[in-house]
Amino acid sequence: MNSLVFDFPTSSPLGDEIRELMGADKGKVVLRYFPDGETYLRVESHVKNRDVIINTSLFHPNDMFLNLFFLADTLRLQGAKTIGLLAPYLAYMRQDKVFLPGEALTSVTFAKLLSQYFSYLITVEPHLHRYHSLAEIYSIPTIVVKAAPLITKWIRKNVTDPFLIGPDEESNQWVKEIAAEFPYIILKKIRHKDGRVEITWPEIGNLKNKVPVLVDDIISSGETMFQAVQYLKNHGMKAPFCIVIHPIFGRESYQKLQTMGVKAIVSCNSIPHPSNQIDLSPLLAREIIKFLRINA
Ligand code: R5P
Repeated sequence: MNSLVFDFPTSSPLGDEIRELMGADKGKVVLRYFPDGETYLRVESHVKNRDVIINTSLFHPNDMFLNLFFLADTLRLQGAKTIGLLAPYLAYMRQDKVFLPGEALTSVTFAKLLSQYFSYLITVEPHLHRYHSLAEIYSIPTIVVKAAPLITKWIRKNVTDPFLIGPDEESNQWVKEIAAEFPYIILKKIRHKDGRVEITWPEIGNLKNKVPVLVDDIISSGETMFQAVQYLKNHGMKAPFCIVIHPIFGRESYQKLQTMGVKAIVSCNSIPHPSNQIDLSPLLAREIIKFLRINA
């Protein structure tokens, strides 16, 4: 029987692409609220013995966390064979250490909860900093899709004579892969407690005449990109392309970046956003199909 992909809580173009590529059906769920804010949820699709996937964006996770568990648990009670969580953007990866006594280690608590309700997790370039892999905190199988091949393809097609810039040491992991065929530099970044960012640049030398392409996993407050773009501007370099895997763009940062004279702002569609130009669905669908075949 075909797999079922639920888009939750709302439809997404990524979900449509994935269903198409997997030959999967669209899961139907009714979600509404009682006057006191409690959730009413009803699964309308036939899920018994089927591989079910919930496609959700964990962007603003707190808003839908509980509903996600209600849905997963309902699918389990109705006899779904597997319940996969497709979360192209995986939230709660920041707090990977207790920095101050009493702080919540949210990455671990979140992972424990998800691991209880899902058979497996598939995501794109999670923010791994102190953890080397998701297996350190998730007890279910995790599939990590790398956006690098798609970003490389986009740059090859759209940028002439690029050089890549990773704005901090963490970006080395994906910039290195994208840059297999382009020159690149990695910057050093210090983030102050008030959110300000300070960046140290290496010698750029003869890269100066090439087209700068800034690549980061997340644009959140935008501070990192603002600083990097401003530096390029101050040093008379060409207008940069800004490429991001997860376009969070908090605090009007997208609007601000647009006014800074950048050539283009491009993102992957892990979070729906006007800057989406790089479609992750072929890689995600391929990995889900592979996982389900191996675990059939
Ligand atoms: C840093 O660890 C990440 O790779 C990003 O550079 C960072 O999260 C971007 O954050 P913001 O947009 O707030 O500077």
